[in-house]
Amino acid sequence: MKRLAVFVSGGGSNFRAIHQAMLAGEIEGVVGLVVSDKADCPAAAYARDHLIQVYHYPAPDQSPVRLLKVLNSSAIDFLILAGYLKMVPVEVVRAYPRKILNIHPALLPDFGGKGFYGRRVHEAVLASGAKVSGVSVHFVDEQYDHGATVVQVTVPVEPDDTPETLAARVLEQEHRLYPQVVAALCRGAIDWEADGTPHMEPPLALPNLYKPEDHS
Ligand code: GRF
Repeated sequence: MKRLAVFVSGGGSNFRAIHQAMLAGEIEGVVGLVVSDKADCPAAAYARDHLIQVYHYPAPDQSPVRLLKVLNSSAIDFLILAGYLKMVPVEVVRAYPRKILNIHPALLPDFGGKGFYGRRVHEAVLASGAKVSGVSVHFVDEQYDHGATVVQVTVPVEPDDTPETLAARVLEQEHRLYPQVVAALCRGAIDWEADGTPHMEPPLALPNLYKPEDHS
């Protein structure tokens, strides 16, 4: 069983989807720790309800070194960012190479980077006139929304979409996709090409997998 630290800031619906998949035996892992910058957000409350330790970070009396120690003492194998709005400290990113995943509610590299979170992502997609949006799962490096992409799926953008309707359509796909990628990570089913490109082996059999060449 791999041990995961899930990083959250808000509602935690992706965290719940991952945790439920674990309880259903679909992921060979356990959540050993939840890290949250907001000690009282619904995601942290869900963790406490399920007797999962919640570590508040960043917090005034904490430091990247303390966070690293906490991750080490919990024997954490992988870090799973699920709506965490803070930057993971560079010391932690460097200590867990190819071991930190994030999910983003659009097709990176578009509509990503600092400031692209929550409703703003979907507002920008709608303002662009894009006909397709989607979900990206990627490894984390030292910049926001920048590390190597593992997999992307698409959702249609409808003419009468609001940021809320588009967000809901995207989120539904997030809940399907993220547990499957986390499951692959835990069973060692993500391979790396020599050029630093990750891919799932076998690839996910999803009808809406995004292939950039189909949209160029
Ligand atoms: C999701 O849209 C995710 O893609 C983004 O933050 C949101 C988190 O939602 N990184 P939730 O807290 O998992 O409900």
